[in-house]
Amino acid sequence: MINENFSNKKILVTGATSGIGLGISRMLNEYKAQLTISGRNQTKLNKISNEFELSNLNFNKGILADVCNLEDISNLVQEIDTLDGLVLNAGIIDYTPAKLITEKKVIDLFYTNVFSNFFLVQKLLHSKKIKKGASIVIISSIAAKVGVPGTSIYAASKGALNSYAKVLASELSLQNIRVNVVSPGVVKTDLIENTNVTSDFQMSNLSTKYPLGLGEIIDIVYLVQFLLSENSKWMTGSNIDIDGGYLLNN
Ligand SMILES: NC(=O)c1ccc[n+]([C@@H]2O[C@H](COP(=O)([O-])OP(=O)(O)OC[C@H]3O[C@@H](n4cnc5c(N)ncnc54)[C@H](OP(=O)(O)O)[C@@H]3O)[C@@H](O)[C@H]2O)c1
Repeated sequence: MINENFSNKKILVTGATSGIGLGISRMLNEYKAQLTISGRNQTKLNKISNEFELSNLNFNKGILADVCNLEDISNLVQEIDTLDGLVLNAGIIDYTPAKLITEKKVIDLFYTNVFSNFFLVQKLLHSKKIKKGASIVIISSIAAKVGVPGTSIYAASKGALNSYAKVLASELSLQNIRVNVVSPGVVKTDLIENTNVTSDFQMSNLSTKYPLGLGEIIDIVYLVQFLLSENSKWMTGSNIDIDGGYLLNN
């Protein structure tokens, strides 16, 4: 049975102001979810919140929150109702050869991609703001599963997130809260297009490694939609690669 009714679901998406997070939020808004979005850029957040308010009476609000700031995380948790769904999406990338890693880069990457999620989930659990039966979707990356040069900090951060997700899935199964991970290959978003290694030449070279071509945001959105819905009610602790066949040859 296809059940795509999100109108009775309260869902929070982090990093909702661009790319994959925005795509997921647009889909949830279209399905009339009681949606809360968060981001760190007030202008972008206002613009998207206004767009959503006009098209969905159920839209809750946009909350400004830098996920690297514990006060912002506490404030975010305080401002939301008990959730049926949570998408931990906010993330940054970095291309630095292992030899050139700096302390600042390691801290920034790990704080944004990993630690922020530890603290957000912890605070949500303390405040009893994740409902029994809720679904948590964590956006990781296939970078954690291969050895692409220059991605050591990013790959390690996503690897840490994968391990965290497994343990969280196990702990929260007692409350029937599901935790699943989506591991995309390269999807054309700002995160990829703004990095210094992704010139047109490099993008076309990269796409030869993807039997089905590079990903589009919508490819990830449909998978997240499934994981947030009751259609996936028997899934927890999964880590799903969605990569246009990249891992077939790498
Ligand atoms: N694109 C890909 O090829 C790809 C592949 C695998 C995995 N992923 C993962 O998918 C997720 C989304 O990436 P994307 O490609 O959609 O990137 P994106 O377009 O750059 O979006 C990232 C989002 O995270 C937000 N963000 C970053 N740091 C934050 C912070 N400290 N506090 C709050 N929000 C913050 C950004 O806010 P601003 O708008 O303010 O920057 C933005 O909304 C990431 O976790 C990424 O690792 C992406």
